[in-house]
Amino acid sequence: MRFQATTFFKVLGVGTFLLIFTLALQAGPAPDAGGDLFKQKCAMCHGADGKGYAALKTPDFTDPKVQASLTDEEITKTIKNGKAGTAMRPFKDSLSDDQVKSLVTYLRSLKK
Ligand code: HEC
Repeated sequence: MRFQATTFFKVLGVGTFLLIFTLALQAGPAPDAGGDLFKQKCAMCHGADGKGYAALKTPDFTDPKVQASLTDEEITKTIKNGKAGTAMRPFKDSLSDDQVKSLVTYLRSLKK
């Protein structure tokens, strides 16, 4: 009887752990989703390292001054709507809100 009870709780414990683990994995885009998206959609103009290209006038996202000059809202808006009169085009039709959010998180992580 005693043995069975212990086994029962062990199985329950492992089951709970697996459930939480699975839910955690499904909770949102993988932490690196922003990095992958950046490489696919942004790196050609902003550089694989996000440092930008002088010739294209793209900002250096690793520069704390550039980071400080932009709010999360501004970055989100720029990605969605682009910047009129520049090569920065709108991405609202090709990226979901979650994808834009993960890009903002990724850009923030580039700060030196
Ligand atoms: C075709 C080239 C090109 C692509 C692709 C591109 N950008 Fe840009 N981006 C630019 C240029 C040029 C600027 C600078 C605009 C300016 O003069 O202020 C810019 C500026 C920005 C800024 C700063 C805006 C500001 O207000 O200073 C952010 C943030 C940004 N891009 C994010 C992204 C993200 C994220 C992607 C990928 C989804 C992306 N860009 C793709 C060309 C591009």
